Amino acid sequence: MRKIVIAGNWKMNKTPAEARELAGAIAANDKIGCEVVICTPFVDLFAAKEAIAGSKVHLGAQNVHWAESGAFTGEISAAMLKEVGVEYVIVGHSERRQYFGETDETVNARTKAALAKGLKVILCVGESLEQRQKGVTADVITSQIRSDLAGLTAQEMKDVVIAYEPVWAIGTGLTATKEQAQEVCALIRSLLKDLFGAETAADTTIQYGGSMNAGNAADLLSMPDIDGGLIGGASLKPADFAAIIAAGSAK
Ligand code: 13P
Repeated sequence: MRKIVIAGNWKMNKTPAEARELAGAIAANDKIGCEVVICTPFVDLFAAKEAIAGSKVHLGAQNVHWAESGAFTGEISAAMLKEVGVEYVIVGHSERRQYFGETDETVNARTKAALAKGLKVILCVGESLEQRQKGVTADVITSQIRSDLAGLTAQEMKDVVIAYEPVWAIGTGLTATKEQAQEVCALIRSLLKDLFGAETAADTTIQYGGSMNAGNAADLLSMPDIDGGLIGGASLKPADFAAIIAAGSAK
Protein backbone atom coordinates (compact mmCIF):
# COMPACT_ATOMS: atom_id res chain seq x y z
CA MET A 1 0.00 0.00 0.00
CA ARG A 2 0.98 3.60 -0.43
CA LYS A 3 3.15 5.55 1.97
CA ILE A 4 1.94 8.43 4.08
CA VAL A 5 4.37 11.29 3.40
CA ILE A 6 4.52 14.45 5.51
CA ALA A 7 6.88 16.95 3.87
CA GLY A 8 7.93 20.40 5.03
CA ASN A 9 8.57 22.98 2.34
CA TRP A 10 10.72 25.59 4.04
CA LYS A 11 10.54 27.91 0.99
CA MET A 12 13.05 30.79 1.30
CA ASN A 13 13.45 30.58 5.06
CA LYS A 14 16.37 29.79 7.42
CA THR A 15 20.08 30.38 7.12
CA PRO A 16 22.35 27.32 7.42
CA ALA A 17 22.81 27.86 11.16
CA GLU A 18 19.06 28.23 11.64
CA ALA A 19 18.46 25.21 9.43
CA ARG A 20 20.74 23.08 11.59
CA GLU A 21 18.74 24.02 14.65
CA LEU A 22 15.31 23.49 13.07
CA ALA A 23 16.24 20.21 11.37
CA GLY A 24 17.72 18.97 14.64
CA ALA A 25 14.53 19.80 16.52
CA ILE A 26 12.41 18.00 13.91
CA ALA A 27 14.73 14.97 13.92
CA ALA A 28 14.63 14.71 17.73
CA ASN A 29 11.04 13.43 17.44
CA ASP A 30 11.10 9.76 18.48
CA LYS A 31 7.48 9.09 17.52
CA ILE A 32 7.77 9.29 13.75
CA GLY A 33 5.55 6.61 12.20
CA CYS A 34 5.32 7.84 8.61
CA GLU A 35 7.68 9.16 5.94
CA VAL A 36 8.91 12.63 6.94
CA VAL A 37 10.80 14.93 4.57
CA ILE A 38 12.24 18.41 5.00
CA CYS A 39 12.77 20.41 1.79
CA THR A 40 15.26 23.13 2.61
CA PRO A 41 16.86 25.91 0.58
CA PHE A 42 19.88 24.65 -1.40
CA VAL A 43 22.49 26.29 0.82
CA ASP A 44 20.94 24.66 3.92
CA LEU A 45 21.11 21.10 2.60
CA PHE A 46 24.51 20.24 4.12
CA ALA A 47 23.61 21.58 7.56
CA ALA A 48 20.21 19.90 7.50
CA LYS A 49 21.73 16.61 6.37
CA GLU A 50 24.12 16.60 9.32
CA ALA A 51 21.36 17.52 11.74
CA ILE A 52 19.05 14.68 10.63
CA ALA A 53 21.77 12.00 10.33
CA GLY A 54 20.66 8.79 12.02
CA SER A 55 17.04 9.97 12.34
CA LYS A 56 13.91 9.02 10.40
CA VAL A 57 13.80 12.36 8.60
CA HIS A 58 14.57 12.45 4.87
CA LEU A 59 16.23 15.29 2.97
CA GLY A 60 14.59 17.19 0.12
CA ALA A 61 15.26 20.20 -2.13
CA GLN A 62 12.81 22.66 -3.66
CA ASN A 63 13.71 22.62 -7.34
CA VAL A 64 16.02 20.98 -9.89
CA HIS A 65 17.12 21.85 -13.42
CA TRP A 66 16.51 19.51 -16.36
CA ALA A 67 19.98 19.69 -17.91
CA GLU A 68 22.93 17.61 -16.73
CA SER A 69 25.20 20.65 -16.57
CA GLY A 70 26.00 23.78 -18.54
CA ALA A 71 25.40 27.49 -18.87
CA PHE A 72 22.33 27.85 -16.63
CA THR A 73 23.31 30.50 -14.12
CA GLY A 74 21.63 30.07 -10.76
CA GLU A 75 20.35 26.56 -11.40
CA ILE A 76 21.12 23.24 -9.67
CA SER A 77 21.33 19.82 -11.33
CA ALA A 78 19.94 16.49 -10.19
CA ALA A 79 23.46 15.03 -9.92
CA MET A 80 24.47 17.87 -7.59
CA LEU A 81 21.48 17.21 -5.34
CA LYS A 82 22.08 13.48 -5.37
CA GLU A 83 25.70 13.87 -4.31
CA VAL A 84 24.73 16.10 -1.39
CA GLY A 85 22.44 13.35 -0.12
CA VAL A 86 19.10 14.70 -1.27
CA GLU A 87 16.40 12.06 -1.67
CA TYR A 88 13.31 14.12 -2.64
CA VAL A 89 12.83 17.23 -4.75
CA ILE A 90 9.77 19.44 -5.13
CA VAL A 91 8.93 20.25 -8.75
CA GLY A 92 6.30 22.62 -10.12
CA HIS A 93 5.42 24.46 -6.93
CA SER A 94 2.84 27.16 -7.67
CA GLU A 95 5.21 29.87 -6.44
CA ARG A 96 7.67 28.82 -9.16
CA ARG A 97 4.85 28.71 -11.71
CA GLN A 98 3.56 32.16 -10.61
CA TYR A 99 6.80 34.07 -10.05
CA PHE A 100 9.51 32.28 -12.04
CA GLY A 101 7.89 31.35 -15.33
CA GLU A 102 7.59 27.63 -14.66
CA THR A 103 5.40 25.91 -17.25
CA ASP A 104 4.01 22.40 -17.55
CA GLU A 105 6.71 21.76 -20.13
CA THR A 106 9.57 22.73 -17.80
CA VAL A 107 7.91 20.89 -14.91
CA ASN A 108 7.84 17.77 -17.06
CA ALA A 109 11.49 18.20 -18.05
CA ARG A 110 12.61 18.76 -14.45
CA THR A 111 10.63 15.72 -13.28
CA LYS A 112 12.21 13.45 -15.86
CA ALA A 113 15.73 14.69 -15.09
CA ALA A 114 15.25 14.17 -11.36
CA LEU A 115 13.88 10.64 -11.79
CA ALA A 116 16.69 9.73 -14.18
CA LYS A 117 19.21 10.51 -11.44
CA GLY A 118 17.33 8.50 -8.82
CA LEU A 119 15.65 11.37 -6.98
CA LYS A 120 12.05 11.11 -5.78
CA VAL A 121 9.80 13.91 -7.03
CA ILE A 122 7.06 15.76 -5.17
CA LEU A 123 5.10 17.17 -8.10
CA CYS A 124 2.77 20.07 -7.26
CA VAL A 125 -0.46 20.90 -9.04
CA GLY A 126 -3.31 23.21 -8.11
CA GLU A 127 -5.84 25.76 -9.32
CA SER A 128 -5.93 29.49 -8.68
CA LEU A 129 -8.81 31.21 -6.90
CA GLU A 130 -10.06 32.59 -10.21
CA GLN A 131 -10.04 29.12 -11.77
CA ARG A 132 -11.95 27.65 -8.81
CA GLN A 133 -14.53 30.43 -8.96
CA LYS A 134 -14.98 29.86 -12.70
CA GLY A 135 -15.64 26.19 -12.03
CA VAL A 136 -12.67 24.94 -14.08
CA THR A 137 -10.71 23.26 -11.26
CA ALA A 138 -11.07 19.75 -12.71
CA ASP A 139 -9.97 20.93 -16.16
CA VAL A 140 -6.90 22.70 -14.75
CA ILE A 141 -5.83 19.73 -12.64
CA THR A 142 -6.42 17.30 -15.51
CA SER A 143 -4.33 19.38 -17.87
CA GLN A 144 -1.50 19.80 -15.34
CA ILE A 145 -1.38 16.10 -14.46
CA ARG A 146 -1.42 14.98 -18.11
CA SER A 147 1.26 17.48 -19.19
CA ASP A 148 3.50 17.26 -16.13
CA LEU A 149 3.59 13.45 -16.20
CA ALA A 150 3.75 13.09 -19.99
CA GLY A 151 6.11 10.34 -21.10
CA LEU A 152 6.66 8.86 -17.64
CA THR A 153 6.40 5.11 -17.10
CA ALA A 154 4.54 3.24 -14.36
CA GLN A 155 7.96 2.18 -13.07
CA GLU A 156 9.05 5.84 -12.77
CA MET A 157 5.79 6.70 -11.00
CA LYS A 158 6.96 4.61 -8.03
CA ASP A 159 9.23 7.60 -7.25
CA VAL A 160 6.61 10.30 -7.73
CA VAL A 161 4.45 11.86 -5.02
CA ILE A 162 1.70 14.24 -6.16
CA ALA A 163 0.90 17.28 -4.04
CA TYR A 164 -2.47 18.92 -4.58
CA GLU A 165 -1.99 22.53 -3.53
CA PRO A 166 -4.85 24.91 -4.31
CA VAL A 167 -3.10 28.22 -4.88
CA TRP A 168 -5.77 30.13 -2.95
CA ALA A 169 -5.02 28.08 0.17
CA ILE A 170 -1.25 28.60 0.19
CA GLY A 171 0.00 30.90 2.91
CA THR A 172 -3.43 32.46 3.22
CA GLY A 173 -4.71 30.65 6.30
CA LEU A 174 -7.59 29.53 4.08
CA THR A 175 -7.67 25.74 3.95
CA ALA A 176 -9.62 23.70 1.47
CA THR A 177 -12.34 21.77 3.26
CA LYS A 178 -11.57 18.11 3.60
CA GLU A 179 -14.33 17.43 1.07
CA GLN A 180 -12.84 19.87 -1.47
CA ALA A 181 -9.37 18.39 -0.99
CA GLN A 182 -10.66 14.83 -1.19
CA GLU A 183 -12.59 15.57 -4.40
CA VAL A 184 -9.48 16.78 -6.22
CA CYS A 185 -7.19 14.09 -4.78
CA ALA A 186 -9.69 11.44 -5.96
CA LEU A 187 -9.73 13.09 -9.40
CA ILE A 188 -5.93 12.92 -9.50
CA ARG A 189 -6.04 9.23 -8.59
CA SER A 190 -8.53 8.53 -11.37
CA LEU A 191 -6.28 10.37 -13.84
CA LEU A 192 -3.33 8.25 -12.69
CA LYS A 193 -5.45 5.17 -13.32
CA ASP A 194 -6.15 6.28 -16.89
CA LEU A 195 -2.51 7.12 -17.51
CA PHE A 196 -0.64 4.36 -15.70
CA GLY A 197 -3.15 1.71 -14.59
CA ALA A 198 -4.97 0.75 -11.41
CA GLU A 199 -1.93 -0.48 -9.52
CA THR A 200 0.02 2.75 -9.95
CA ALA A 201 -3.07 4.78 -9.04
CA ALA A 202 -3.55 2.79 -5.84
CA ASP A 203 0.12 2.98 -4.89
CA THR A 204 0.82 6.69 -5.55
CA THR A 205 0.97 8.99 -2.53
CA ILE A 206 -1.20 12.09 -3.02
CA GLN A 207 -0.64 14.92 -0.55
CA TYR A 208 -2.72 17.94 0.26
CA GLY A 209 -0.95 21.29 0.77
CA GLY A 210 -2.25 24.74 1.62
CA SER A 211 -2.38 26.04 5.18
CA MET A 212 -2.25 22.55 6.64
CA ASN A 213 -1.53 22.95 10.33
CA ALA A 214 -1.53 21.22 13.70
CA GLY A 215 -5.26 21.87 14.09
CA ASN A 216 -6.58 20.66 10.73
CA ALA A 217 -4.12 17.94 9.68
CA ALA A 218 -5.93 14.97 11.24
CA ASP A 219 -9.21 16.04 9.67
CA LEU A 220 -7.71 16.39 6.18
CA LEU A 221 -5.76 13.15 6.55
CA SER A 222 -8.94 11.28 7.51
CA MET A 223 -10.02 11.40 3.86
CA PRO A 224 -9.40 8.24 1.81
CA ASP A 225 -7.39 9.80 -1.03
CA ILE A 226 -5.27 12.18 1.07
CA ASP A 227 -2.02 10.38 1.88
CA GLY A 228 0.00 13.13 3.46
CA GLY A 229 0.74 16.80 3.43
CA LEU A 230 3.10 19.35 1.93
CA ILE A 231 3.41 21.98 4.61
CA GLY A 232 4.84 25.47 4.40
CA GLY A 233 4.47 27.80 7.39
CA ALA A 234 3.68 25.14 9.99
CA SER A 235 6.74 23.10 9.00
CA LEU A 236 8.97 25.87 10.39
CA LYS A 237 7.54 25.35 13.89
CA PRO A 238 8.82 22.07 15.38
CA ALA A 239 5.87 21.52 17.74
CA ASP A 240 3.30 22.19 15.00
CA PHE A 241 5.16 20.04 12.49
CA ALA A 242 5.39 17.26 15.12
CA ALA A 243 1.60 17.41 15.56
CA ILE A 244 1.12 17.03 11.81
CA ILE A 245 3.61 14.13 11.79
CA ALA A 246 1.61 12.54 14.61
CA ALA A 247 -1.58 12.85 12.51
CA GLY A 248 0.23 11.26 9.55
CA SER A 249 1.62 8.50 11.75
CA ALA A 250 -1.87 7.71 13.05
CA LYS A 251 -3.36 7.24 9.57
P1 13P B 1 1.47 26.92 3.62
O1 13P B 1 1.39 25.67 4.44
O2 13P B 1 2.33 27.98 4.25
O3 13P B 1 0.12 27.40 3.21
O4 13P B 1 2.25 26.54 2.27
C1 13P B 1 1.82 25.43 1.57
C2 13P B 1 2.80 25.16 0.51
O5 13P B 1 2.94 25.91 -0.44
C3 13P B 1 3.66 23.98 0.65
O6 13P B 1 4.38 23.74 -0.50
